[in-house]
Amino acid sequence: MNTDVIYSPKVIVESNSADASSRVASMFANSIQANPQLTLGLATGGTPVDVYRDWVSRHRQSQLSFAGVTTFNLDEYIGLDRDHPQSFRSFMEGQLFRHVDIDDSRTHFPSVDRDYDSAIRLAGGIDLQLLGIGTNGHIAFNEPGSPIDSLTREVELTPDTIAANSRYFGAADLVPRTAISMGIGSILAARQIVLLATGESKAKAVSHSLGSPPCASCPASLLQYHPLVTFVLDAEAGSMLAGN
Ligand code: F6R
Repeated sequence: MNTDVIYSPKVIVESNSADASSRVASMFANSIQANPQLTLGLATGGTPVDVYRDWVSRHRQSQLSFAGVTTFNLDEYIGLDRDHPQSFRSFMEGQLFRHVDIDDSRTHFPSVDRDYDSAIRLAGGIDLQLLGIGTNGHIAFNEPGSPIDSLTREVELTPDTIAANSRYFGAADLVPRTAISMGIGSILAARQIVLLATGESKAKAVSHSLGSPPCASCPASLLQYHPLVTFVLDAEAGSMLAGN
């Protein structure tokens, strides 16, 4: 990774989260239509839910096919069965995969027993990566301090992230303590990256990511080392940017 050059990510601010999600959904849908064999990097969590809903609706209207698309998800908890309702595989099945024509064998999740970065390379690399952002600036499960050249590996979740994700499990002590996550280096290897952030809780992390020099203390700020990054925000997530 060349850290001599710093780029300014493109920033798009929509007035609300529905518009931000539909903007992102269209960007991806257009790319899939232009190249039906696209390889996507996908995220889980609350942020992309409306994006996936939009793709399902386009698919039902015969406007979007995933038949030739390959996907690599960013992360997965360690210790949950693939069918556990909170596994990221179950999330993706429920939100997207089950409702579209994607080939199951082209959907990938990191696991402790495979070299995920080699699998991504063998598939030709990720063309377009969708990211969310944690309130602490994490991308995937790359918590503050994650090295810029990190690859897919086992990571410990921080108390912040465990607390934030307890909303999906009902209680913090049910959240796994470890996960396997693509690294910052794995993410920066994608050809193009779109980060979606919605809601006031993300405003500080967004402003830190865009308004400070790249630094491992805010992992999303390291995206400034990539030449083709777009942040799509709603007004709340963009509220702490200079000029807002
Ligand atoms: C999920 C992921 C995480 C989330 C982030 C935001 O695959 O990689 O980095 O994008 O924790 O989560 P939400 O969208 O639930 O606020």
